[in-house]
Amino acid sequence: MAVSYKELGLVNTRAMFADAIKNGYAVPAYNFNNMEQMQAIIQACVETKSPVILQVSSGARKYANQTLLRYMAQGAVQFAKELGCEIPIALHLDHGDTLDLCKSCVDYGFSSVMIDGSHHSYEENIALTQRVVEYAHKYDVTVEGELGILAGVEDDVSSETHTYTQPEEVEDFVKKTGCDSLAISIGTSHGAFKFKPGQDPEIRLDILAEIEKRIPGFPIVLHGASSVPQEYVELINKFGGKMEAAIGIPEEQLRSAAKSAVCKINIDSDGRLAMTAAIRKMFADQPGEFDPRKYLGPARDELRKMYASKNKNVLGSAGMVK
Ligand code: G3H
Ligand code: 13P
Ligand code: ZN
Repeated sequence: MAVSYKELGLVNTRAMFADAIKNGYAVPAYNFNNMEQMQAIIQACVETKSPVILQVSSGARKYANQTLLRYMAQGAVQFAKELGCEIPIALHLDHGDTLDLCKSCVDYGFSSVMIDGSHHSYEENIALTQRVVEYAHKYDVTVEGELGILAGVEDDVSSETHTYTQPEEVEDFVKKTGCDSLAISIGTSHGAFKFKPGQDPEIRLDILAEIEKRIPGFPIVLHGASSVPQEYVELINKFGGKMEAAIGIPEEQLRSAAKSAVCKINIDSDGRLAMTAAIRKMFADQPGEFDPRKYLGPARDELRKMYASKNKNVLGSAGMVK
């Protein structure tokens, strides 16, 4: 049965992004697949008084079941209130690839959807994004489009090199599609291996500045923005893992981006690393333990600390809920 996100206490991203642009910060968009991740995200965002976008990928929908995720997001609104702060919470489809999937999420209580047509031709990307916008806007659901292709694995399509967003296309794209925000490719990439050892871990803030000049005040989204904290990589390797040369985006570059037109920053991999590091350490320290709460609990605590630190020190979203 169709349900509006408004009945669930969720919000779309429009007011969130307007505030982020006005105050020079980025709203965190954290992916979740299970209860502990969701709890940690909400705990951290309530503690730091930050708005938040809960992101669900199609992989997450397959893993956790879309009905359960939807009710978890609905529960998150109540959970935040119980923790003492009514923060704005959006439920967002990450990397939607078809009109049908986007429609189904709109009908299912999502307040925001991404249609990622970046692997299509420019014209096909526009046509697909237009159709999603037409449907979503009828229900006041906001839409994120994408121009440019990130290197690494995106939607199961793997690309060795970045196809940077061409600044001369952005104005035409947002005008023709009517999308509410735009994901761009400026050198970030998905996963924990974003740069080769010895490579300068730099993103193209010059392209971002050029894009901002063409569409001033329009909300820009940065995917692939995990910074891959080395303390987690070291813990994982120390306690039996094997993650060689995992390198992410330096935090100071993300901070610069967040102060500009970037008003949504996507982080998934750092959460995976924090959880894995905490669980591996727990298993090594207490090999006799077999109660899942004894290892998922510390993993959730580590996640909460990490998200709170991102909000305070990287995105600048801490303290923005008054
Ligand atoms: O953009 C990719 C996100 O990190 C989601 O990853 O498709 O493995 O859930 P996933
Ligand atoms: P990371 O893999 O860098 O965390 O990026 C996540 C993302 O972009 C989700 O859409
Ligand atoms: Zn992404």
